[in-house]
Amino acid sequence: MSDPREFVRTLADENAAFWKGRDVRLDPAAPPARRLQQIRYRMRQGVYNELRSVELLAAWIPYTPEREIRELLAGQLDDEHRHWRLLRQRLLALGEDPDAYRALPEWEALFDWLVAARARPTLERLAMFQFTGETQSCEGFETLIALARDVDPETADLYAREILPDEYRHAAIGHRGLYLLADTPERQERVRAGCREMNERILAAYRAHRTRADRGD
Ligand SMILES: [Fe+2]
Ligand SMILES: [Fe+2]
Repeated sequence: MSDPREFVRTLADENAAFWKGRDVRLDPAAPPARRLQQIRYRMRQGVYNELRSVELLAAWIPYTPEREIRELLAGQLDDEHRHWRLLRQRLLALGEDPDAYRALPEWEALFDWLVAARARPTLERLAMFQFTGETQSCEGFETLIALARDVDPETADLYAREILPDEYRHAAIGHRGLYLLADTPERQERVRAGCREMNERILAAYRAHRTRADRGD
């Protein structure tokens, strides 16, 4: 298969199939108090993730010669910085110290790996972070918003109004990049391998996240 659009459609279906029932960070069946605890944990880890996203985009931009993609990455960097500020402010308003949170080693390792991937071809990086990671994070935010509506409507609104629309745009950068660059069977194979690797790493981070959130530390 070498038509990029057809390839991207198939790959999106493969990713969606991989993720069925695998985002274990929140438990929809948990009683409200427990659900709220899980949401708070997501927010704390979220502050870290947004800031590391800024860092990784800054690291990638100089290694991205494709001018159109570079512009899009600069816009994304700006969005992630705004998300970091907004989430941090929300936690402060809730009486927490967002800077005291110790990030999970699995999330740290995931971002360290992505930053270190800066010199890999743009195509592979976009497959990993924007196409796979950001698409999955849209799914994750949809779930978070739905589960926060009754226990913390203000936070649900913040995610729905200020964060989720940007995340859909970030996932679209992945699509755009793949349409432009995944135009040979060899390149498509590298993209598919990048997606597979990213999926496994995110899954490991999600599982560790839930274990630690349940322990409450
Ligand atoms: Fe973000
Ligand atoms: Fe994002």
